[in-house]
Amino acid sequence: MSNTVKVQPDLNFIKELQAVGGDSLKKCYQCATCSVVCPLSPADNPYPRKEMVWAQWGLKDRLVNDIDIWLCHNCGACSDLCPRGAKPGDLLAALRNMAYRSLAPLPIIGKWMSSSSGLIPLAAIPALLYGIIWFIMGSRLGSFLPKFELVDHAWVPVKEGGQIAFGGLFPGDYTIDPVFMIVFAFMIWAFYSGVRNMLKAFDGQPKTFIVGRKKEPSMIAALINTVQYEILQHTQFLDCNEEDADELDIKRATGHRWLMFAFIMLMVVTGIVAGTHWGGWFLTFMGIEGLGSIVSAIGHTPMPLYHPVKLLAIVGAGLGVYGLIALTKRRVNLDEAKQSSSWYDWYLITLIWAIFLTGIGALIFRILGAAVLAYPIYYVHLISVFMMLAYLPWSKLGHLVYRTVALSYAKKIGRIPMGSDK
Ligand code: HEM
Ligand code: SF4
Ligand code: SF4
Repeated sequence: MSNTVKVQPDLNFIKELQAVGGDSLKKCYQCATCSVVCPLSPADNPYPRKEMVWAQWGLKDRLVNDIDIWLCHNCGACSDLCPRGAKPGDLLAALRNMAYRSLAPLPIIGKWMSSSSGLIPLAAIPALLYGIIWFIMGSRLGSFLPKFELVDHAWVPVKEGGQIAFGGLFPGDYTIDPVFMIVFAFMIWAFYSGVRNMLKAFDGQPKTFIVGRKKEPSMIAALINTVQYEILQHTQFLDCNEEDADELDIKRATGHRWLMFAFIMLMVVTGIVAGTHWGGWFLTFMGIEGLGSIVSAIGHTPMPLYHPVKLLAIVGAGLGVYGLIALTKRRVNLDEAKQSSSWYDWYLITLIWAIFLTGIGALIFRILGAAVLAYPIYYVHLISVFMMLAYLPWSKLGHLVYRTVALSYAKKIGRIPMGSDK
């Protein structure tokens, strides 16, 4: 009897992979140029050549458990130099897209997220929810585009004059805050399951031995190192460029860093507004009224433009737009023969644009007193923020958790070295 190993390709998997962006993998003839030119791939068992052949063979199990798909930073150097136009960078991106679809629970959300037709149910959920709130509140207030005056910390609707107050039409205490608290808890739960599944899959990774390494770092030490080098400093992201990379490629890492810092600033702003509001309420509830009203006043909205928290929000929005312009320009200018953009790429960039533009638009039209524009733009803003947060673990932005975990795990097992100051 011969010892032939039978490879049983999963043909559906190959089709699925092609559908989410890995459509040129069949062109690969295994020359290995891609693995040689990749600026990040380890010398030992490098990527992405091996992934190309696994994909051609339909070796789904190997690919979905492969930690290397998360180490690639999608610079496209491999695709640029591939002599066959097989787009290995796109294949790794497509594999990550498949991971977003399958890591977290509730596969229906992953399915909706994977193609443009899924946009309708994904947007319909928050659109209906906030539409119902708008309808109920508008009916109670006697106007769907109401104006208010602030009386004893409460918004009172007025027929003449007054100002636009989003918190008057969509009251934070019993519409916005509870919805976002539930959405946030849902997102954390989905990420928790997703990360557990991911770590389970990584368990089968060969435990790489690094010459000279004294002992394996703990996961916490690897995580701190990842935050310091890969997140705050973007060390590998900045390394992920060909030597003769054009300006747009280099700006990609810088643009990404600004966009990430912008998100952090806006999260701090949201934290201050929610924390002072609910903290003040809690202190008052506990009978410490004086301190309670001081704390509430710190984050009271709408804030004047010179308020430090408002200034932080404006700087964050400005940086975010700057970063987004760099990322969008690069995607628009990609040479499609070498690197393509998938639905996942455009969904994320467009959603973030929608969040920033509607946030800035709502602020401007509120100040101008144009209710007919301010309220609908704010409504779209709420829908976009909901879509970003609630579906985060299934979208490309899920990388902010999955990549962090994968990079940390890779450092722990020695697949990549711990970052260090150069
Ligand atoms: C709030 C935090 C973050 C935001 C808003 C963000 C946003 C984005 C966006 C919009 C892209 C797409 C760029 C493009 O299409 O060209 C991207 C790509 C990328 N991000 Fe982030 N990111 C965040 C956090 C992180 C973290 C924590 C890491 C690393 C641990 C990371 C690593 C990457 C990498 C390597 C890419 C390129 C790979 C790809 O396009 O698939 N990001 N990010
Ligand atoms: S993807 Fe391109 S560069 Fe990489 S092994 Fe295949 S043919 Fe060679
Ligand atoms: S896209 Fe860049 S990081 Fe990813 S495999 Fe290709 S060369 Fe390496």
